[in-house]
Amino acid sequence: MTLTGPVLLHLLLLLLLPVSARYFGHIAENSPVGTPVSGVLLPGGSHLNATLTGDYASDFRLVHHRDHRLGLVSAKALDREFIAMYELTVQLPRGAAAVQVEVSDRNDNIPRFIGGNRTVEVHALTPLGTELARFDAKDGDAERNGRVTFYASPESHLLHMAPQTGQVRLVRSLLGVRQATLRLCVRDGGSVALIGDPVFLHVNVQRSGKPRKPRAVRADVALSVSVPQQAALGDLLFTVPDQRFQQRWFQLLSEADSPVQIERDSGRMYLTRDLLEPAEVLVKIHNSRGKKRGSL
Ligand SMILES: *[C@@H]1O[C@H](CO)[C@@H](O)[C@H](O)[C@H]1NC(C)=O
Ligand SMILES: *[C@@H]1O[C@H](CO)[C@@H](O)[C@H](O)[C@H]1NC(C)=O
Repeated sequence: MTLTGPVLLHLLLLLLLPVSARYFGHIAENSPVGTPVSGVLLPGGSHLNATLTGDYASDFRLVHHRDHRLGLVSAKALDREFIAMYELTVQLPRGAAAVQVEVSDRNDNIPRFIGGNRTVEVHALTPLGTELARFDAKDGDAERNGRVTFYASPESHLLHMAPQTGQVRLVRSLLGVRQATLRLCVRDGGSVALIGDPVFLHVNVQRSGKPRKPRAVRADVALSVSVPQQAALGDLLFTVPDQRFQQRWFQLLSEADSPVQIERDSGRMYLTRDLLEPAEVLVKIHNSRGKKRGSL
């Protein structure tokens, strides 16, 4: 095939034009006016007639660099909540280039607990593993800047706060305890984490009267137990609460690499290896006779 005139011209145009060029830049939200969009530098020529088009193109301005390259700067403070991604076109005398600009999130929202301090009344015989309260928090930022993690500060040996779910569970016996207070904090996942105002959980322990009856168990049941990260090897983590089986035995349903062991007959659960993060294990309570104790 010989190169005819039109084909040659077409090839030349392809070489000259930045038509197919795509640029991807980003700028942090709320940056001061005139902040360069990083990642966007269009090469070649002195594009004095270049124009910027696209939705909200006036949020940016083209700047000519001394080396004849063309860049973008912000023309106002940008808000990611309003526009997170701009699709712009730089029109040049000889073609056009597509430019995407992402407005990246700045970690500017402090996480906040929803609802304030709380008081719960519990019985001294409340089984270990019982959830006493659950907290939630809000953070207006995107992605990891808005991802909240809960923790107690100072840590408590009685109560465990689940970092992701905000559940507070009993991890030690309340016998001999009259009152406990937990100071709870929340932080976000920003590279410089922001920490919200703490809230307090007051636990009043009742000694008289009967604990709420555990629900009657009519068949084999499975129980989810959360294992706090700060537990020490060999710690008694949990005793499966008294269920209404005359004869029963306990089995761990979690995977083989489970960090705990359970005594088949007593239902006592011990930590067998160090935890890097809190874990959740499933215990199955088998009814070996199928008979229920008492009238319930
Ligand atoms: C810019 O555009 C004007 C009119 O459209 C034209 O006369 C001029 O030559 C152009 N300049 C460049 C550098 O392309
Ligand atoms: C929560 O409790 C703490 C300590 O008891 C107290 O200083 C704080 O004012 C309380 N916050 C609210 C909103 O009641």
